[in-house]
Amino acid sequence: MMRSKIAELLESTHFGTEVTVMGWVRTKRDSKGGFSFLEINDGSTIKNIQVIAEDKLANYTKEILRLTIGCSVIVKGILVESPGKGQKVEVQATDVKTIGWADPDTYPLQKKRHSFEYLRTIAHLRPRTNTFGAVARIRNAMSYGIHTFFQDRGFIYLHSPIITGSNCEGAGDMFTVTTLDLQGLKHKDGMVDFREDFFAKPASLTVSGQLEAEVYALALGNVYTFGPTFRAENSNTYRHLAEFWMVEPEMAFCDLKEAVDLAEEFVKSILTSTLTNCKDDLDFFNRFVDKDLISTVEHIIRSTFERLTYTEAIEILSQVRERFEFPVEWGKDIQSEHERYLCEVVFKRPVVVTDYPKEIKPFYMKVNKDGRTVKAMDILLPGVGEIIGGSQREDDYETLLNRIKEMNLDPGDYWWYLDLRRYGTVIHSGFGLGFERLIQFVTGLSNIRDAIPFPRTPKNLEF
Ligand code: 4AD
Ligand code: MG
Repeated sequence: MMRSKIAELLESTHFGTEVTVMGWVRTKRDSKGGFSFLEINDGSTIKNIQVIAEDKLANYTKEILRLTIGCSVIVKGILVESPGKGQKVEVQATDVKTIGWADPDTYPLQKKRHSFEYLRTIAHLRPRTNTFGAVARIRNAMSYGIHTFFQDRGFIYLHSPIITGSNCEGAGDMFTVTTLDLQGLKHKDGMVDFREDFFAKPASLTVSGQLEAEVYALALGNVYTFGPTFRAENSNTYRHLAEFWMVEPEMAFCDLKEAVDLAEEFVKSILTSTLTNCKDDLDFFNRFVDKDLISTVEHIIRSTFERLTYTEAIEILSQVRERFEFPVEWGKDIQSEHERYLCEVVFKRPVVVTDYPKEIKPFYMKVNKDGRTVKAMDILLPGVGEIIGGSQREDDYETLLNRIKEMNLDPGDYWWYLDLRRYGTVIHSGFGLGFERLIQFVTGLSNIRDAIPFPRTPKNLEF
C-alpha cells in the first residue's frame, strides 16, 4: 500500500489526486450536516491533516462515528484545497478503515494537556503527543547535524566500547557489569572474587568514550564518538541522567585553544541547522514552552563565547558570594548556580571557563606550567549550565604517570593509555558534549528526562 506522508501532503498542490493517509486520530468532530472532521497525525510532522468523512460512506454510522482519540486508521481519499482557515489542504475520504481501536474510557491521552510528570509515567504513549513527537524529530535532526558537522570536516566516526575495564572520569560513579550470581555471591578474603566473573576482572558500563577515542586520534588524526554513556551518580536533578548520549571529538596536533574554537563552531553549527530543519517543531516550543526560545537560540548563534580562566571566574563570583548556596573559593568546584550566574547575569551569552585547579579535574588533563592548574575547559550555556567538558590531554609520560598515582589510580590499569605517551606522543585535545542538555536548551524543556525517549534516573526503570 502506498502511504502518503502527511508532511508531504500538507505541502502538495496536486489537488484531485487520490492519497492514502495512515495514522492516529487526534480529534474528531461530528457535524449535524451529515459528515465528520477527523484530524489525523502520522508523526511525519507536528501538523495534522484534516479528513472529511461523509455519512454516505458505508461504515459511517457503524465505524466512523465511533472513532475516538488514539484510534489508528487508514484513510483513502482525494486531496482537495481546504476552504477552512488554518490549513491549505484536506482529504475528502472515500474509504476510512479502522485498524486499532483505543477505548476512550481507558486510553490515557485525552484531549486536555497533560503534565510532563504524568507523561513520564506513560513513556510508551507520550511520543503520540505534540511535545514528544517534536522532541523525537528534533533529536533525530540534531543527530544528523552532528554527524554532518564532523563528516564535513573529515573526522572518523569511532565506535567506542560500552563495556569497559577502565574508568575515565574518576572512581565511584560506574555501573558494574557482571554475570556473577549476586544471590549466592562467594567472597575470597572478604572480597568479591572477580576471577570467577565473565571477564575475570571487574567490568563496568562506560562513563565516556574518551580514552579509546584518544587511541584512535593518535593514529587517524581526528575522530569522534557519539553514543550512550552511563553514570551511577545519585543525582536527582533537572539536568542529570544515569544514561545519556555524549558526542566526543578527539583531535591530534590540537591544543586547548583550538579545541575551544572547534567546540564553539560546533555548538553554533548544530543550533543553526536545527533552526533551519526543525522550524515547525521549534515554533511549537516557542509558543507553548518558552516565548523567547528562538530569539535566545539566534542570540547564541550570533554571539562570541566569553572566555575566561577559572581563577577569573572565582574572582567575579566571590564579589557576590552571598547570592549563592554553595561556597565560592579557589579550589572548589563551580556549581550550576555559579555557571548560570556567569552566563545569565554577568555575560549574557555562553561562557568558556578554562584552567581549573588540577585537584577537581580528572587525571588525564594536561598540567599547566604553574603546576596547580590543568588545561581544562567547560562551556556553559544559559539555562542548562555546563554543556561541554573537555581538555588538552597530558602528553608527557612521566607527568601522566604521576597524576595517575596522585589520584590513587592503579597505573597497571592504564598501561595501554600510558603507552600512547611512550610511542609517538603528540599534543592532543578533545571534549564531550551532553546531547540531552543541548536538546533541553533548544526546546526549552525544563527537565532533561523529557529530552530522551526512555529516561534512566535513580529508582526509575519502568520502560
Ligand atoms: O564533563 P564530562 O564528565 O566530560 C567527560 O566525560 C570527558 N571525558 C569528555 C571528553 O573530554 N571527551 O561530561 C561531558 C558532558 C557534560 O558537559 C554534560 O553536558 C554531559 O556530558 N553530562 C551529562 N548529561 C546528562 N546527565 C549526566 N549525568 C551527565 N554528566 C555529564
Ligand atoms: Mg564536566
